[in-house]
Amino acid sequence: MRTILITGGAGFIGGNFVHFLMEKTAVRVVNLDALTYAGNLDTLAAFNNEPRHIFIHGDISDRALVKQLLTEYAVDAVVNFAAESHVDRSIDGPAAFIDTNISGTFQLLEATRAYWLSCAAAKQAAFRFLHVSTDEVYGSLGATGLFTETTPYAPNSPYSASKAASDHLVRAWFHTYGLPVLTTNCSNNYGPYQFPEKLIPLILLKAQRGEPLPIYGDGGNIRDWLFVGDHCRAIWRVLEAGIAGEVYNVGGNSERTNLEVVDTLCGLLDELLPDSPQRPHAQFKQFVSDRPGHDRRYAIDASKLQRELGWQPLETFESGLRKTVQWYLDNPAWCARVMDGSYRGERLGMEQ
Ligand SMILES: NC(=O)c1ccc[n+]([C@@H]2O[C@H](COP(=O)([O-])OP(=O)(O)OC[C@H]3O[C@@H](n4cnc5c(N)ncnc54)[C@H](O)[C@@H]3O)[C@@H](O)[C@H]2O)c1
Repeated sequence: MRTILITGGAGFIGGNFVHFLMEKTAVRVVNLDALTYAGNLDTLAAFNNEPRHIFIHGDISDRALVKQLLTEYAVDAVVNFAAESHVDRSIDGPAAFIDTNISGTFQLLEATRAYWLSCAAAKQAAFRFLHVSTDEVYGSLGATGLFTETTPYAPNSPYSASKAASDHLVRAWFHTYGLPVLTTNCSNNYGPYQFPEKLIPLILLKAQRGEPLPIYGDGGNIRDWLFVGDHCRAIWRVLEAGIAGEVYNVGGNSERTNLEVVDTLCGLLDELLPDSPQRPHAQFKQFVSDRPGHDRRYAIDASKLQRELGWQPLETFESGLRKTVQWYLDNPAWCARVMDGSYRGERLGMEQ
């Protein structure tokens, strides 16, 4: 049986990827996650008795632990999702981003390289280290144009700068040491299990409570939205068929302004909650001061992945968003435990 070490697999995309692997493949997963505020074991509850899913509470910066896990489970591939991932938090406190995204990736690469060197030739040749990164490393676009794999890096936030640095480390470990790496740079994801600090779940949960729906600046910032299930399929495809040392952009072909996203979400809630006293949910929209250094537009050219590996998104923005809204409505317990902190054993405002 093949074994994959997933880092950050209790987070949003990593958690969805674990679901994908358990449902669609026969691989065994060793899931290493530090359980920061963004890590949520509730997301993985379905696999509590699943022998193919082994959860390890630990840090990617712990080189000895990573090396021990790689050896103990004879790992065939590493997929690195672990990161500090929220731009606003990186503005308020960049240190954790430097620690995990840069130093952590370095330690993970070094542990992996040591293990990889210890493997037999056939295992070495088949081994892959897939680094999950973001389109934000390319900076901001004007009204036209798309990011390709050769767009020069121009990160503008502490988050994107730290991800850019990690991408460069991964690239260097291929060119210098021959470690068979793959990098994917992806646009904004949305879907089930996303922590409600990010736009779509934040708006969804606030609108249902009749709370103000904060929209940065004029609401005209554009992101290229990708349904997380399509992202998981892309990562699996790159892991299976990507060429070591290559970079693959992943995008949803779904550019929307933030205002369009909020209006579509409010419309879906109006439709799916016909008896809600909050209808029309769009009445709670509120423009707030813009994020410093807010990139205006991101858009991905994913044609390399489509052309070379035959991947394309299955969801449109409308179909993916409908599934997402339905998932949040169908899973009030997951949402409530995130909102009141009990997913971390911290029941805010209640006695322990
Ligand atoms: N969410 C997006 O729209 C998006 C888009 C493109 C790329 N990405 C990238 O995808 C990856 C996953 O993003 P996400 O949205 O799922 O993030 P997330 O914040 O939801 O999850 C991150 C996970 O990593 C874990 N983690 C953090 N520091 C760790 C450490 N030092 N050691 C081990 N685990 C640690 C956290 O506990 C959490 O479970 C990130 O690398 C991010 O940069 C995200």
